[in-house]
Amino acid sequence: MEKNNNEVNRREFLKVTTKFTAATIFIGLGSSALFGANTGNQKKMSIPTVTLNNGVVMPRLGFGTNTLADAVGVRSVSEAISVGYRLIDTAHIYGNEAAVGEGIRQSGIDRKELFLTSKLWVDFAGYENTKKAFETSIKKLGVDYLDLYLIHRPRGDVKGSWLAMEELVKAGKIRAIGVSNFDPEQMKELLSYAKIAPAINQIETNVFFQEKDLYPLLKGSATQIEAWSPLAAGRGGIFSNPILAAIGKKYQKSIAQVCLRWHYQRGVVTIPRSSQKAHMIENLNIFDFELAESDMQTIATLDLNTTQFPEWK
Ligand SMILES: NC(=O)c1ccc[n+]([C@@H]2O[C@H](COP(=O)([O-])OP(=O)(O)OC[C@H]3O[C@@H](n4cnc5c(N)ncnc54)[C@H](OP(=O)(O)O)[C@@H]3O)[C@@H](O)[C@H]2O)c1
Repeated sequence: MEKNNNEVNRREFLKVTTKFTAATIFIGLGSSALFGANTGNQKKMSIPTVTLNNGVVMPRLGFGTNTLADAVGVRSVSEAISVGYRLIDTAHIYGNEAAVGEGIRQSGIDRKELFLTSKLWVDFAGYENTKKAFETSIKKLGVDYLDLYLIHRPRGDVKGSWLAMEELVKAGKIRAIGVSNFDPEQMKELLSYAKIAPAINQIETNVFFQEKDLYPLLKGSATQIEAWSPLAAGRGGIFSNPILAAIGKKYQKSIAQVCLRWHYQRGVVTIPRSSQKAHMIENLNIFDFELAESDMQTIATLDLNTTQFPEWK
């Protein structure tokens, strides 16, 4: 993943306004211990949404599924839906689309209540291969459309892939299309021929890699930023970081909650992964507090301005 620090290019790529809606998705948490279902006190929580540049509404917090395959994948996805997640993020390369699909079915949820994302792997770049790869993905998932389909990495015939994806949107098979791991130069290139502007760019960002020069320009962009590895996948000692722990103590929140709230206040969609139901619930519980500006600034000091995944470059 190459980085381009040219500020002009960043500004060009982040031009049109992304609006957060006041709308919320209301979700019953009847089976959640946290919300006291066993006492009969069924509570509701809401996940705020963002309206993407094509009018499609997306939850601002979802569930990541990388590495959650087979039986663990089925159980985790089903549990995540049962505790309130509605945005589920998968990809061909995770090898778990069938497990994710089974988890969705076992949850019993109506497909239309979900916001389901998958991604086109680099081996299938190009017009024909993209159409085939998309069909394979939805078949494995057991669905007949995706809410969001992303080009996973900017490799190969991106132009051919994008054309195929635009046609799939027109055919009603995908509600929104976007990219992942695209830098501003790659976005500019895509925008030179795209008839549909990318709704999402899913990139690595976390407290140790804040993309500080990119985020001030987020306001005014047509492309919503979504963070992958919003908890740095546990790297860099994130879950024992004393600065994050001290901030969490002030609000009676965990380090994971502080990190996810920090993303939320920056206007970034997040998709934390967990195989543990308690963590899934904890990660959803970030909408009842607000980090003070001074704490946002303290978290800003944690930035190392470098990827936590150098092996993926
Ligand atoms: N587009 C891309 O190139 C790309 C790349 C990487 C990832 N992604 C997507 O982004 C998603 C999220 O990233 P990720 O899976 O790499 O990592 P992540 O969500 O940043 O972190 C997951 C790790 O944090 C732990 N965790 C989660 N909640 C916790 C909590 N409340 N307290 C303590 N530990 C907690 C999990 O362990 P437990 O299971 O024990 O809770 C797991 O080890 C992926 O699953 C995938 O969908 C996309």
